[in-house]
Order: sequence, then structure tokens, then C-alpha cells
Amino acid sequence: YQNEIYIDGLSGVLPALPMEFQELEARAQAALSPSLLSYVAGGAGDESTQRANVAAFLRWGLVPRMMVGAARRDMSVNLFGTSLPSPLFMAPVGVIGLCAQDGRGDLATARAAARTGVPMVASTLSVDPLEEVAAEFGETPGFFSLYTPTDRELAESLVRRAETAGFKGIVVTLDTWITGWRPRDLGTGNFPQLRGHCLANYTSDPVFRARLAKAPEEDVRAAVLEWARIFGNPLTWDDLSWLRSITDLPLVLKGICHPEDARRARDGGMDGIYCSNHGGRQANGGLPAVEALPGVVEAADGLPVLFDSGVRSGADVVKALALGATAVGVGRPYAYGLALGGTQGIVHVLRSLLAEADLIMAVDGYPALKDLRADGAIRRL
Ligand code: FNR
Repeated sequence: YQNEIYIDGLSGVLPALPMEFQELEARAQAALSPSLLSYVAGGAGDESTQRANVAAFLRWGLVPRMMVGAARRDMSVNLFGTSLPSPLFMAPVGVIGLCAQDGRGDLATARAAARTGVPMVASTLSVDPLEEVAAEFGETPGFFSLYTPTDRELAESLVRRAETAGFKGIVVTLDTWITGWRPRDLGTGNFPQLRGHCLANYTSDPVFRARLAKAPEEDVRAAVLEWARIFGNPLTWDDLSWLRSITDLPLVLKGICHPEDARRARDGGMDGIYCSNHGGRQANGGLPAVEALPGVVEAADGLPVLFDSGVRSGADVVKALALGATAVGVGRPYAYGLALGGTQGIVHVLRSLLAEADLIMAVDGYPALKDLRADGAIRRL
């Protein structure tokens, strides 16, 4: 990617979109409606955990090695038996559909996955049903993120549909059975998913249809209560064996920040652990997610660890990998790429992250990801 970017740059072809996150976010402010922008950009409480997620990366630094001849870099990873060209992925973003100018952002994101080989973790909350999203993945594997409904039959139906549609794994999001305290959204009265815009996976589901006479979007107040009834499912460790029993697909628990929880996930037969604090959107006052990563990696004891929350640059991607993440996700950065330039906007954001990560690995002398994990690649500043 960097060749393409540099050749364009040196021949005077300016990138259509900004290369840096802050400028991207600033430009996206004009492309999104004020309420959608506050939904995407905002977080829990006074957003100090959200800011800390980003700032915490400054406390870690890579230590370069010289004369290793890193002329070729290998960023490929194997995730649950699937080979990926790079360790980057797109985290599940529930309103991603609405971020596109035409409202079909789930499909545009899936097409960006097809173009780049960077997998999309598709959210349960999508404008288009998961079957139609998966149909756009091309050769790139896709993962499905499950908001586990209270109704087990409905949950199983969603998982079955994800299997049939060809998803390669299920990410069970644990920290969103209840919506966090988000002053910006309360201020704008805006929770897009509550208005029924992002419920296509439910409204298209045969079990859901059999239960409900009408889609919950007609009356917003009723929709809020309906939402709590459908999703308000605080899973416990006792539910793990049920989850394990409903699918043979790889299962990953998202929202793990405590080493003991990582251990329990591993002992409960999970295939992967996803260290994340939801980008600071769910609970304010938490430690930055990257600070939790080393402990989770250690407790995972060899199980793949996915990571997101606060990744804004290729340098952040490399740092998370050096701290032991198997794969690294971004949320808001690609949502802004989508808002500004559709599929092409996402491709731009992903390629910029990958090009920077690759060049850092070249300059710092870490030709493969396994070299990054060796002692000394990263230090606390
Ligand atoms: C999210 N996230 C999220 N996570 C999830 O498991 N299911 C979901 O439906 C959503 N929805 C969602 C909407 C929006 C607008 C955002 C910004 C995020 C959380 C997401 O997967 C991820 O954990 C964070 O976005 C990562 O943090 P950064 O990269 O945004 O800092």
C-alpha cells in the first residue's frame, strides 16, 4: 500500500481524504447529521475513558532494532484457522449502515473488506440483514458480533443464520446488554438503534417474526422498552456452556479486560478473547483498554486475543501487536472513512493504517509479527 500512497504523493496526486485521524474526524463532522455524529463520536460520561484509550498509547514505545534487513515484511496472521493478509480488522459498529450517505453502510463496509482483505465484524444491529452483508465479503472472511437476546431461541436463530451465511466466527459482545450513560445522546434524544433503523437482523428473523406482531419502530417510547426486553440479557458464566453448545464456529468473548475473566473464557472452551472497553462508550471511569491488554494476553495463555479501543494510527496497531494482540480492530476511524467516502473512504483509512504499520516494521526492524512479540520490542515510557 505504501508504494501506491507514495507514488501518488510524489507525483502530486493528493489523497482525497485526510491521512490523520483528527482531521478525518473534523471532516466527518460536516458529513454526518449532528445527532449521528454525537452517537458515533461520543462515549460514556464525560468521555475521559474514551480519551484515555487514545492517550494511553503514548505511554508505550517501540524499541527499534537495526541491521536486520527487513526488506520484506510479513503481516499475515492465522485467526481460528483462517489466514488473513494483515492483523487489522473492522470492529462491530452498530449504526454503521446509517453513516453512509445512502444509508447502506453495512454493505459498503463489507465491500471494503472484500477490497482490502481486512475482515469486518458485522454487528447484530445493522440496516441490512446479515445474509446480504455476508454476500459482499468476497474472499475475505467475516465475523458476526452477537448481541445475545434474552430469548434463547432467537439467539440460536441468529447464530444459525450467521453459520449459513458463511461467517467464520461469532463474537459475543458482553458489555452492551444495557446502554451506558451517554450524555451526548441523552442530550440529542438520539439512539438510532432504538428507532428501529438498525434492527434488520431481528425484523427479518423467523423467530422474531413469530413473536412480534409489529416491528418496534412505530412508537419510540415503546421501542425503548421493547429494546430492553429483547436485549437486556446480562449473561453469566453459567451461560457459557449453552453458548458453546449452539455452534461449532469459533467463539470469542468481547469486552474482556480482567485477566481472571480471560482465564474463565479460556477454561470455558472459548476460541478467542476480545480485549476492549467498547471504545469508552459503555462505562466511563475505566482504565484505558491498552493497559489491560498485557494482563489479558498473559491469562489467555496462547489463545488468540483480539483488541480494540483507541487505535488511531499504524503506530498504535504495531504497539498493540507488540503487547501481544493477535489482531487489532478500529471502530470510529473506519466509520468516518465511510461517512466521507463510502467504500473507497474506508479503503483509504485501512490502507493508511496498514501502510504506516508496515513502514514502522521496516524502519524498526521487525520483519514479522512474531519478532514484535519478542522481549524488548515495546517499553513503557
Ligand atoms: C460500537 N461498538 C460496538 N460493539 C459491538 O460489539 N457491537 C456494536 O453493535 C457496536 N456498536 C458501536 C457503534 C458505534 C457508533 C461505535 C463507535 C462503536 C464498539 C466497537 O466495536 C469498538 O469496540 C470500538 O469502537 C473501538 O473503539 P474505537 O476504535 O472506536 O476507539
